Amino acid sequence: MLGVSSTVLLAVALVSASLPPTPSSWPQDYPGKPSGDLSPAWQSYFQVTDPLPNVSWSLSRNFAGNIPVDRPGHPNNTLFFWAWENTEGSLTAAANERAGIPWGIWLNGGPGSSSLLGFMYENGPIHLDADGLPFENPFSFDHVADYIWIDQPVGTGWSTTDSSGYVHDEDEMGRDFMGFLANLVKVFPSLANRPLYLTGESYAGTYIPYIMKTYFGMTNPPVKIAKFAIGDGTVGSELVFEYVPTLTTIETYPQLIGYDPEAFEFFREQQHLCGYDLNLTYPQNGHFPTLQFVNPSDPHRSEFQTLAAKRQFFRKTLSKSALAASANIKRSEEGAVAKRDLSMRANGTIDPWYGCFIYDEMIDYAFNFSAPWNTVGNPVTFDGFDVYQVPDALNPEFPIDGTSFFHDPKAVSALHAPTSKAWAGGIPYPFLGDPVDGNDPSVEPMAFLTDLATNMSRHGVSIVLYSGNDDSLIAHRGTEVVIQNTTFGGIQGFTRRPATPWFDDDGTHAGVIHQERNWTYVLVEGAGHLVPYNQPARALTLFHKFIFGNNHTGLVVSGTDGVTVEGGEDSDLAVDAIIGQSGIYVGAVSTTGTYQYPAATIAAWEEFIATATATVLQAPRSSPGNIAKRSGAASVGGAVGGAFAVVAGVAAFVVSLLLSI
Ligand SMILES: *[C@@H]1O[C@H](CO)[C@@H](O)[C@H](O)[C@H]1NC(C)=O
Ligand SMILES: *[C@@H]1O[C@H](CO)[C@@H](O)[C@H](O)[C@H]1NC(C)=O
Ligand SMILES: *[C@@H]1O[C@H](CO)[C@@H](O)[C@H](O)[C@H]1NC(C)=O
Ligand SMILES: *[C@@H]1O[C@H](CO)[C@@H](O)[C@H](O)[C@H]1NC(C)=O
Ligand SMILES: *[C@@H]1O[C@H](CO)[C@@H](O)[C@H](O)[C@H]1NC(C)=O
Ligand SMILES: *[C@@H]1O[C@H](CO)[C@@H](O)[C@H](O)[C@H]1NC(C)=O
Ligand SMILES: *[C@@H]1O[C@H](CO)[C@@H](O)[C@H](O)[C@H]1NC(C)=O
Ligand SMILES: *[C@@H]1O[C@H](CO)[C@@H](O)[C@H](O)[C@H]1NC(C)=O
Ligand SMILES: *[C@@H]1O[C@H](CO)[C@@H](O)[C@H](O)[C@H]1NC(C)=O
Repeated sequence: MLGVSSTVLLAVALVSASLPPTPSSWPQDYPGKPSGDLSPAWQSYFQVTDPLPNVSWSLSRNFAGNIPVDRPGHPNNTLFFWAWENTEGSLTAAANERAGIPWGIWLNGGPGSSSLLGFMYENGPIHLDADGLPFENPFSFDHVADYIWIDQPVGTGWSTTDSSGYVHDEDEMGRDFMGFLANLVKVFPSLANRPLYLTGESYAGTYIPYIMKTYFGMTNPPVKIAKFAIGDGTVGSELVFEYVPTLTTIETYPQLIGYDPEAFEFFREQQHLCGYDLNLTYPQNGHFPTLQFVNPSDPHRSEFQTLAAKRQFFRKTLSKSALAASANIKRSEEGAVAKRDLSMRANGTIDPWYGCFIYDEMIDYAFNFSAPWNTVGNPVTFDGFDVYQVPDALNPEFPIDGTSFFHDPKAVSALHAPTSKAWAGGIPYPFLGDPVDGNDPSVEPMAFLTDLATNMSRHGVSIVLYSGNDDSLIAHRGTEVVIQNTTFGGIQGFTRRPATPWFDDDGTHAGVIHQERNWTYVLVEGAGHLVPYNQPARALTLFHKFIFGNNHTGLVVSGTDGVTVEGGEDSDLAVDAIIGQSGIYVGAVSTTGTYQYPAATIAAWEEFIATATATVLQAPRSSPGNIAKRSGAASVGGAVGGAFAVVAGVAAFVVSLLLSI
């Protein structure tokens, strides 16, 4: 349901559709600012002592404000941080204190998303309900370690930059980040020596590998990075994270095609024709090829015919009002337009209308033909379909916004935030290298991951890649492809297929974990793209035990009796896709019910799929994702078999299908 964050982001992007010129911003001086260089004397300046609006419970000590990145010629370029103590005095420890005790950083993605969205809706101590009112999050990551949420790159969230100072590429982003860290540890000196766990999500899957690359290139880095963790990250190429997983997403949620075997065979054939049917083997035998994208060939395909055109289409061409208008026109025309059912489709050739945009085709198919999306969803605005959490068909969704809090002047001054800009959940122009579209010109991390892994081994740095099973945009399949295509510890990919269960603190099945040669992969069931949003307790366990902790579940061990895996391997989990929940959430903002397909439909499908694929799917063992908890309307029972009223509503938000995460 990060749909949200992206949703918010894109809405912001569309509202300010005329991109350049980019605005300038600068940090604010508050009373009591020390003179002279950054030092521990600044701790009391940054400490948050004024009450935060509508926060009535007592908070642990926390510190916030802007710190320069020290980019030559750009004195106003700063990053905004909000740092929380794990125990009283732990952040303000002296340089030689708390040796060996980890600290963490959290980064959201976008590109252009504020990490304060993650703070408020995923893993920070203060969360906001649907009305924008704060409540205490008992699963905050500051329970694991001293944790710092950072808005970056410059210009994002409350981070500041002059108008020509936005980053040009990922290498500049990495240098800025290291410049910031060098200053941060002047204020909190123990952080220079303690192990840093660099964590983030989504497009931070591009940022973090580049930050690591910058770090490994420094002779004297300001911090000691021990591990990094990326959730649902853009580590591979766009084709790998967005398109390759289409069929496994359908296998996870056959509701997307109405449990229709013919539609499955159609998508399976398209996948094969596009070369997306990469075969993962353990051990992996050779590199995967570089995927070639086939554009649509139908000359009437006007909206987008290439990947670049699609990106433009979603990032910039549309305005919210234009979308709303075209949504209404489309609705009225629709009766006259014959829907393209399977009988009219390509057979044995790539569909000329979609080309290899099979992910888009899957979504359109759901909007056109599959309940509940064909009635609750709007195919033009994408309302009612959540690319980040497939079983969430709420329309509108729970708002992930944050402005009620971050625009309150009391919050601004208490957090020592800039007044030269209003906080925004996302900005559309984080990259000046491409001033027109704001696109990231750098190559995806897959291109240097094997080099990165070599550097990691040399420096004793390990990695965790985790994925929410319900995320369709940056789905786990893409992450598995990235791992199998990378050489680490001298071998390409994992040598055994991930198949070890891991468990919540209460013993509930939580997903799959695999650890080999300091690389860890975790599948989180019952969660979409925003793992800590859907499954706050489970995410805290994941971070506590497997990221910051040293739990060996899923670890491949070679001993005298051969190779074994701690926690065992379960053949039911050694599959391409683990089936998601059966009920699709419906309602507005909070869940009012679930859409369930008839039991006979599901039974027929199960019979079909068991023989149709070698990789038999397994029923979920895990509890469903939680999307209604914030409103207290947690009961999602009650099968709703009937039709829903068509919601032709005007878009509250628009979801970009691409990179707006
Ligand atoms: C930095 O911000 C100050 C306002 O605090 C402004 O006067 C100055 O022009 C800015 N510098 C640059 C290089 O943009
Ligand atoms: C690996 O480390 C070397 C320095 O030893 C550095 O030059 C290079 O950029 C690093 N590459 C990556 C991908 O980390
Ligand atoms: C994966 O294996 C299947 C079955 O052998 C084959 O048809 C397909 O071409 C393979 N995929 C790729 C990308 O080589
Ligand atoms: C796999 O790795 C090779 C070698 O680095 C690279 O050329 C290729 O593009 C990668 N394939 C995919 C699908 O990422
Ligand atoms: C494609 O063609 C084959 C062979 O003619 C046929 O069996 C199959 O039903 C067709 N599929 C679709 C989706 O039309
Ligand atoms: C969905 O319907 C629209 C409008 O009728 C059509 O253009 C599009 O091709 C259909 N897509 C699929 C996947 O059926
Ligand atoms: C705090 O609550 C008051 C009334 O209860 C409300 O007017 C105000 O908007 C709230 N502030 C925030 C930041 O939600
Ligand atoms: C994994 O990390 C440990 C501890 O840093 C190290 O001793 C070991 O050599 C690493 N293994 C590989 C394959 O890099
Ligand atoms: C590791 O985690 C598993 C849950 O997946 C738990 O059962 C086990 O007790 C943990 N091991 C240790 C040593 O804490």
